[in-house]
Amino acid sequence: MTDYFAPRSLLVTGGAGFIGSNFINNFMAGNSGCRVVNLDALTYAGNLENLRAVENSPDYRFVKGDICDSELVAGILEKEKIDAVVHFAAESHVDRSILGPEVFVRTNVLGTQVLLEESRRHWQSAQVENFRYLQISTDEVYGSLGKTGYFTEETPLAANSPYSASKAGADLLVRAYHETFGFPAMTTRCSNNYGPFQFPEKLIPLMIHNILAGKPLPVYGDGLNVRDWLHVKDHSLAVETVLKKGGIGRVYNIGGNNEWRNIDIVNLVCSLMDEKLGNTRCTSNALISFVKDRPGHDRRYAIDASRIRSELGWEPSFTFERGIDETIDWYLANREWSAKVTSGAYRDYYRQMYEGRQ
Ligand code: NAD
Ligand code: DAU
Repeated sequence: MTDYFAPRSLLVTGGAGFIGSNFINNFMAGNSGCRVVNLDALTYAGNLENLRAVENSPDYRFVKGDICDSELVAGILEKEKIDAVVHFAAESHVDRSILGPEVFVRTNVLGTQVLLEESRRHWQSAQVENFRYLQISTDEVYGSLGKTGYFTEETPLAANSPYSASKAGADLLVRAYHETFGFPAMTTRCSNNYGPFQFPEKLIPLMIHNILAGKPLPVYGDGLNVRDWLHVKDHSLAVETVLKKGGIGRVYNIGGNNEWRNIDIVNLVCSLMDEKLGNTRCTSNALISFVKDRPGHDRRYAIDASRIRSELGWEPSFTFERGIDETIDWYLANREWSAKVTSGAYRDYYRQMYEGRQ
């Protein structure tokens, strides 16, 4: 393990998305004095309203731009004297990758290569003595498990969707940059996140949204696929821990040891929503609708997170009971956020806040 690393000027990519924005909000709350530059292209998944808590901080800067733009990336690295990169930016939704894989390869593979190459040049030009690059990856690169067993960091990559294949391709590039150039890169592979600011195309916010709208709750296949759920704040803290204490060249799995079958999650969300909305007839689960399965649908994910626990001392702090309860409360208290996402009005925020200012 390396010595404790304290970044002074951090480039976060994809910081307007679900996990990136939670990470920036949490990181800036606990690391005052560290500059944070957020580079985000504001695709459909990017929402600057997620960053209201930090947008006026003198330590924070937002740059609207594409990670595939090498000139832009090089300029930010140099001008901002970046000494660490945390790379969240990606196309992240499996179903979209089945409908249109090309943009996944462009952003997730080519975008990562551009970021790696420009970061390597910047690091090698000796502008920064100490440098870290952290690739945010996913447990999906390992493929699918049967009824038993866990993914460890040594599990061979066996991606099954265009999304996970593009993430696995990026992971291999990160590995290659470390092996070939000695580039100080690390990788994290996390399980399914839930929490505030998640785009309502993903299972949990979609179910909450559809219950509120009285719409069907689509459950793919037999509903018995299993995912390991982790609160996004616990993921954010794990990322910060790896950034500061992780070993160069190392991969760290992150997970909540919290496996749920999809149908059980959907039923749980239904009963919590009934309770919170005072629906004494408990009718939300009547909206459940079993639909055609996702092609190539991975059956089960389960993470062995013992490396990050034993080497770096990270532990999740949320029980699922508390996390899911607070998450539903958040979506109920922030219906305007969801409404703006659904109507597309969230896209106006950039124009109102930033146009003419960059
Ligand atoms: P998200 O889709 O909510 O956000 C992605 C962000 O990246 C958006 O703000 C988008 O505007 C930005 N982006 C997309 N293309 C870009 C480009 N070319 N240039 C600059 N910015 C671009 O994703 P998320 O759920 O927050 O996931 C973040 C990262 O974490 C991804 O790399 C994903 O693979 C990984 N991950 C996600 C989960 C999960 O459960 N959501 C779990 C493990 C790992
Ligand atoms: O495991 C980490 C991954 O988790 C991340 O790398 C991805 O970026 C993130 O999107 C997530 O992928 P999943 O495919 O597991 O998440 P999603 O929310 O799309 O689906 C969770 C499970 O629920 C999955 O088995 C498919 C199922 N599902 C999903 C949707 C959207 C349904 O049954 N119905 C639905 O409508």
